[in-house]
Amino acid sequence: MSEHVGHNHGETEVPDDFWESFYAERDQIWSGKPNAMLVREASDLQPGSALELGCGEGADAIWLAAQGWQVTGIDVSGLALERAAKHAEDAGVAEKIQWLKRDLSSWEPATQYDLVSAQFLHSPVELPRNTILAAAARAVAPGGALLVVGHESFPSWSKHPEPHEPLPTAAELAVELGLNAPDWSLETVDSVVRDITGPEGQTGTLTDSVLLARRAG
Ligand SMILES: C[S@@+](CC[C@H](N)C(=O)[O-])C[C@H]1O[C@@H](n2cnc3c(N)ncnc32)[C@H](O)[C@@H]1O
Repeated sequence: MSEHVGHNHGETEVPDDFWESFYAERDQIWSGKPNAMLVREASDLQPGSALELGCGEGADAIWLAAQGWQVTGIDVSGLALERAAKHAEDAGVAEKIQWLKRDLSSWEPATQYDLVSAQFLHSPVELPRNTILAAAARAVAPGGALLVVGHESFPSWSKHPEPHEPLPTAAELAVELGLNAPDWSLETVDSVVRDITGPEGQTGTLTDSVLLARRAG
């Protein structure tokens, strides 16, 4: 994903409006490449059904589909999903992905998946992240995995919009979601530091939290 996002936002803005104008700012926001931690964590998983929460312009869902997964991608932005669908067609995996426009704030999964992935599901406007991630955990089929990758910290000069909720470590998130329970095993609980370059050439690091939890089969 892109590291520098600068725009105005307000606490009162609803997710639908905020994210639609966010994506309307440019023809393409994200890099088009799958997130590195998704690739690291999911490359060795046995493909099955996958759910991608906050799929944006679709790079992760498309990568999963190319690995053999049958994917459902959810996002609140219709514009992002239009781009995602076009990219999926270009990549020849359109038939393996279903795109759903939903506000995850009021989402309850109707079925279960072998992999539920949330990559950088953060927002500067209202986003009940832990409620959504708890629902995501309920959406994991027996034997399946929940993968949550998120920001753990930003460099001081970052113009990334301030997330609405605090940024937990992977270990904190596991506790918050009740995943340190007998029917879950925590396979990855990690902090990954990566170098980034800011808009004025500043160098710095970003820390990402990576949590892969498996539900007992
Ligand atoms: C920071 S972006 C990350 C996008 C993508 N997962 C990535 O890693 O590049 C957060 C995404 O979550 C979506 N999102 C934010 N709030 C949402 C909500 N309430 N319901 C559904 N999607 C939402 C946004 O539209 C956006 O695509």
